[in-house]
Amino acid sequence: MIEIAIDGTAASGKGTLGKKLSDKYSFPYLDTGLLYRKVAHELIKDNKINTTKLEQTSCDFAMILNFKELKNTNLRTEDVAKLASKIATFPNLRKILNNKQKEFNNSSKKKFGGCILDGRDIGTTILPNADFKFYITASLEIRAKRRLLEKNISFLHENDEKCMLQALMNNMRERDRLDSNRKISPLIPAKDAYVIDTTSINPEELLLKVADIIERKK
Ligand code: CDP
Repeated sequence: MIEIAIDGTAASGKGTLGKKLSDKYSFPYLDTGLLYRKVAHELIKDNKINTTKLEQTSCDFAMILNFKELKNTNLRTEDVAKLASKIATFPNLRKILNNKQKEFNNSSKKKFGGCILDGRDIGTTILPNADFKFYITASLEIRAKRRLLEKNISFLHENDEKCMLQALMNNMRERDRLDSNRKISPLIPAKDAYVIDTTSINPEELLLKVADIIERKK
């Protein structure tokens, strides 16, 4: 039974690493940020952002959340990410989503002998006894450039691209600040995590580094 926990800052390469590890070891992979994004997306869709009962409404959506609905590409927008980070400070919402992550973990381990989760509090809260913990980060500018590339917008004028990059950097800086400073499950490396800066390495090099650590300890 192998548990792999991946945490880190926004757009640091956690997701790409999670997917590559999942392909390599055939363990199911869960991007836990999608759970928060899904709840945020439902709030926006149903025009519930300004409700005075935002925490309760978020919990109501979380209770009926279905893992099959996490593939929706609308979950990837910056507006959704911003609201996800806001509601991720709600203790009751975190409780519900934590239970869903633990269920995923248990069923994956039973069926496939392992699991890979990425997020902000995996190594500290969700899988505190994980066999391998990685904390992935990179410079803010590189992370924003990667996210811009992911959005695949090739028709932008140079100035528009600069503006968009700046806006992305501002959003990410604010999200990292909120994630790192919240009282419950803040974004911090677990004491026993391998901290890896991906500013000057590509996804293949990151995979090699991580797989080497896993193979040496397995
Ligand atoms: O993809 P990116 O790294 O930009 O963000 P994400 O992993 O999709 O997470 C979106 C937001 O959900 C984060 O900014 C966190 O506020 C929240 N989140 C969290 O609090 N705990 C997790 N385990 C995963 C995400």
